[in-house]
Amino acid sequence: MYEVDHADVYDLFYLGRGKDYAAEASDIADLVRSRTPEASSLLDVACGTGTHLEHFTKEFGDTAGLELSEDMLTHARKRLPDATLHQGDMRDFRLGRKFSAVVSMFSSVGYLKTTEELDAAVASFAEHLEPGGVVVVEPWWFPETFADGWVSADVVRRDGRTVARVSHSVREGNATRMEVHFTVADPGKGVRHFSDVHLITLFHQAEYEAAFTAAGLRVEYLEGGPSGRGLFVGVPA
Ligand SMILES: C[S@@+](CC[C@H](N)C(=O)[O-])C[C@H]1O[C@@H](n2cnc3c(N)ncnc32)[C@H](O)[C@@H]1O
Repeated sequence: MYEVDHADVYDLFYLGRGKDYAAEASDIADLVRSRTPEASSLLDVACGTGTHLEHFTKEFGDTAGLELSEDMLTHARKRLPDATLHQGDMRDFRLGRKFSAVVSMFSSVGYLKTTEELDAAVASFAEHLEPGGVVVVEPWWFPETFADGWVSADVVRRDGRTVARVSHSVREGNATRMEVHFTVADPGKGVRHFSDVHLITLFHQAEYEAAFTAAGLRVEYLEGGPSGRGLFVGVPA
């Protein structure tokens, strides 16, 4: 039976669609250094397949990744055989060491369901911070910036493989319900379809800010960021 690996498709798709992980990591490194000039280590929380982490390691040398999904971690290990990668949950992890920077990219915190979970996650980030360190979180959209009914559609081709991704996002309660359909074709092998539903919480800006404050961090929100959703930056208060 012809099977496709979902994490492989995810990787190919975002890189092929032009998401510039190297440029994003470089901008985040500059932001980290603007708050913590001597920064020498970084933890990437919800690191996925390790694409930012690869570039963060070139910037800081001493890095680690944390990720919930074994599937994503398997790919991160393949990409970065020498990296320190932990399987864990951002709401409650203890790595037994601290970092100059703790970052979480591409709206991974949106997978948290409640403000209690968001508070717990940001508190865990703060607990892993060296004195004078910095936390950077890329949020999901806020309720007022999310475009209800949004459709995105792209086709990406690489090494013979073609991936088409179409998504439709609607508001469901305090979350985005994003239905994503992938069609993947490999020459001589066949064509497969799979779909996922993502529920991504539409936390308010004030809820993110409250999580940082409760964790003992002074927070600012920077507009723009890698995906237009902005960035929260926290330093010890
Ligand atoms: C949109 S992906 C982003 C991955 C990566 N940061 C990137 O920029 O490509 C969201 C990631 O968050 C991870 N994730 C979701 N909930 C998590 C949790 N509670 N703890 C750790 N990782 C989690 C998922 O497994 C997934 O890899």
